Amino acid sequence: MKKYLVIGNPIEHSLSPLIHNFWMKKYCLVDSVYEKRKVEEKELKNIIKEIREDEIFGVNVTVPFKKLIIPYLDELDFSAKETQSVNTLFKIKNKIIGHNTDSAGFGDTIKKLYFHTNNSSKLPLEDKLIFIIGAGGVTASIIHALKLQGANKITLSNRTKEKSHELKKLFPKIEVLDWGKRPTICDVIINTTSIGLNKNEEINIDFSDYNKNSHKKTLFYDLIYNPKETNFLKKAKLRGNKTMNGKMMFLNQAKYAFNIWTNIMPKIDDDIKKLLD
Ligand code: ATR
Repeated sequence: MKKYLVIGNPIEHSLSPLIHNFWMKKYCLVDSVYEKRKVEEKELKNIIKEIREDEIFGVNVTVPFKKLIIPYLDELDFSAKETQSVNTLFKIKNKIIGHNTDSAGFGDTIKKLYFHTNNSSKLPLEDKLIFIIGAGGVTASIIHALKLQGANKITLSNRTKEKSHELKKLFPKIEVLDWGKRPTICDVIINTTSIGLNKNEEINIDFSDYNKNSHKKTLFYDLIYNPKETNFLKKAKLRGNKTMNGKMMFLNQAKYAFNIWTNIMPKIDDDIKKLLD
């Protein structure tokens, strides 16, 4: 049996087993099974040992271990190095490699929305004004993906300002604002905080002036996909702005992890989208 795991703490909410077991069945990987395991930080070295000894074949890493796992690994891929964040582990030629598929998962989604059909020399997000809310575990992956798509005007605000400055060390060109402040105009506004996971929670930043016709094209993007529509997205929709939740990013990061482990690139079709609903 080839065993795969998602590790984190908490982990009960994780939908990764649902997705990966569906694909394993679909692509006839009959000897494979994907489980979730709640671990403490001191158990990370045991996970690595299990991978080295082929007891575990592939691992997804989630909050709060995406950075903490790094010292135990032999190598990092390009995105993991740039973001100092790892969400996928795989052993190849006796080396345990840390991959970051969150970045490509988000990049896939956002580039489709801004793909230039008329001017192919321009990257999708060149000249777009982007505002990121939050500086948690996933935010570096988002900034990395945005940069790869040409974004060069990124502003960020997080409640704990030190964490914004930690990110600025990785990405010196981002501009940091105090919590509650925002740029006057933005093309894309991305919530990377956990505000909205509970239905009543709301981000304390006022976007009510985004009701004008000139703002209809502004995209409000929430990485949260459960609930499907946070208050951040509900209000944006009511104002007539474009909205997107984190479902496609979640499916895309899972797709790339599955591909690293199996060499199969699963299709993001209606079946898998419905399963997540
Ligand atoms: P971590 O910071 O441990 O990586 P996370 O879930 O990845 O955890 O990130 C949580 C994000 O949501 C952070 O940006 C956090 O802000 P702080 O850095 O100030 O903690 C943000 N967040 C969560 N609850 C919040 C709240 N009530 N108000 C403002 N920001 C909040």
